[in-house]
Amino acid sequence: HAYTSVFDSGTQGNVCSRTSLSQGDAAAAWDSCDVVVEHTYRTQAQAHLSIEPCGALAEIDASGRVTLWSANQSVFRVQANVCEALGLSMAKLRCQTPHIGAGFGNKMEAHVQPAVVLLALKSRKTVKLMLSREEDFETVRARHPAVIRMKTGAKKDGTLVARETELLLDGGAYGDDSPGVLGYALLMNCGPYNIPHVHAHGRVAYTNKMRFGAFRGFGVPQVTFASEQQLDVLADKLGMDPITLRRKNIKRDGDTWFGGQAIHSNGLEKCLDLVERESDWKATRAAHGKAPESEMRLGMGVAVSAHISGLLATGAIVRLLEDGTVLLNTGAVDIGQGSNTVLSQMCAESLKLPVDRVAIASPDTDGSPYNWGTTASRITYTTGRSVVAAAGEVEQQIKKLAGAMMECAAEDIELRAGGTVGIKGVPGGGVSFAQVSGYAHWAAGGPIIGSNSWVFDQKTVDPKRAVVSGLPFAQIGIFSFSAQVIEVEVDTLTGKVRVPRAWTACDIGRAINPTMATGQIEGALVQGMGYALTEELVWDGGRLANPSLMDYKIPTFVEMPDEQHAYLVESDDPTGPFGAKSVGEIGINTVAAAISNAVANAIGTRLSQLPLTSERVLAAVMAAEKTP
Ligand code: MOS
Repeated sequence: HAYTSVFDSGTQGNVCSRTSLSQGDAAAAWDSCDVVVEHTYRTQAQAHLSIEPCGALAEIDASGRVTLWSANQSVFRVQANVCEALGLSMAKLRCQTPHIGAGFGNKMEAHVQPAVVLLALKSRKTVKLMLSREEDFETVRARHPAVIRMKTGAKKDGTLVARETELLLDGGAYGDDSPGVLGYALLMNCGPYNIPHVHAHGRVAYTNKMRFGAFRGFGVPQVTFASEQQLDVLADKLGMDPITLRRKNIKRDGDTWFGGQAIHSNGLEKCLDLVERESDWKATRAAHGKAPESEMRLGMGVAVSAHISGLLATGAIVRLLEDGTVLLNTGAVDIGQGSNTVLSQMCAESLKLPVDRVAIASPDTDGSPYNWGTTASRITYTTGRSVVAAAGEVEQQIKKLAGAMMECAAEDIELRAGGTVGIKGVPGGGVSFAQVSGYAHWAAGGPIIGSNSWVFDQKTVDPKRAVVSGLPFAQIGIFSFSAQVIEVEVDTLTGKVRVPRAWTACDIGRAINPTMATGQIEGALVQGMGYALTEELVWDGGRLANPSLMDYKIPTFVEMPDEQHAYLVESDDPTGPFGAKSVGEIGINTVAAAISNAVANAIGTRLSQLPLTSERVLAAVMAAEKTP
């Protein structure tokens, strides 16, 4: 069964991939721990449920070249996927993306596009296919179900010593992004904690379900559900406050990630301080613990996490148009999170222009520079860096031409607010971008175009620090951080869990657009609440039993928290564009873990299987009541 794979993932029989990471000597370290906890956790399949189902339209021209419009997170991945699937030359396929209704991971790689292009090629006609909601449920990828056996050891004072994680992912019938999800989940299995002795290993199994793949968080919500519950169990055993235990072990300035990658900026402790203070953690938890007067029990839980800010290749082209306005072309797909606005803001700021003088080109494989995709929380950081660099080239060209026009050296020219340039130290008397651009187009120099492309450097893991097999993660290194406190109210008669209040603080570096960054955190909380409490794809044999919103329950306005507080902690990253890091995924990583810890705090017993449905919570309450 020879097929193309991006890296050797150890495929063997029914095992789609295997990965193992080690640092220190976990096996030898258990004896030196004062407390060891071990448990097995189970998580379910979650559907992405973008507001817009997957769909595509292909048109073939007289020469046989196909233009494909589709809902996707990357025109370039669509082009590569379709051409690989059909044995088609990439030069024969042009991919574009109109405005699309979200992605969350399942539109990163191809869905219906290969079938639509094949039909267009065979029929020589225009072909359109939009999945119904039911078809979207049944055929498109979902979040991997996982079984996680985790063991953690600590000293009496709470210092974490050792961790073993064994992760088994259900991959479904196709490999898709599964090896990547497995590797990244294992890489993040310790959360943002210093644990010297670690052995993390896992497998993806092929099964007779549809495929599983990338979904916001990319394996981190699963391992965080296990890891952050173990921290609470340890805190219980050690008689420590859960936040105190976390504060003791989190990574701080100068600490490195697994395998030795540098962390350039880290606002995690500030995040933890913020949610502790704003939730009035100690007093509120103590009040919740008072003897309950009704069947309602309140509880609070905490969880922390980290996420990367992208990887792989990106580019940007900035063109100064004849009237002095700017066209920015990055190939990045805005999936509704607002990257068009953020990238335009960065371009405008770099050139001291009002943001309405920057337009953004629609992603198009014919005209856009390569952009791996809107995935891995990467656009603000990676594409932002390209935008700043490309705008910087435009600035240099403007200064050179303006210098020629004003008969002075380029170094003496400065950009002034609103699209003009002048001579340093000489007020007034400048020329406009329109005049410079007109000069460039019609007289000298040629049209002004700035461009940039880059890819993360390959770093090798220091073999003295870590042993890694089955995962090429050497580009990972720019981390965002989060801390979250969630309050729950559990109805012990029905098992129903409600979320009255939530506090989330994220260190995302400089927030380029604080309103939209806050929106990402709020949206991730809601999607995480569905994952924690109600959402679960269920199979009846090989057939999906609940492919509809009647039987697959997502949160609605009725379930919204009474209060949700999002805090932006801006630890500027020295490598980031204007100091920015990532925000797209970090917000969902902690939610199921924080809710599970809160439910345990409320009912005094712990569930280790998601989602925490009323049935499961009620069963746990009843079992706890039977145990004296
Ligand atoms: Mo995303 S799950 O990194 O497309």
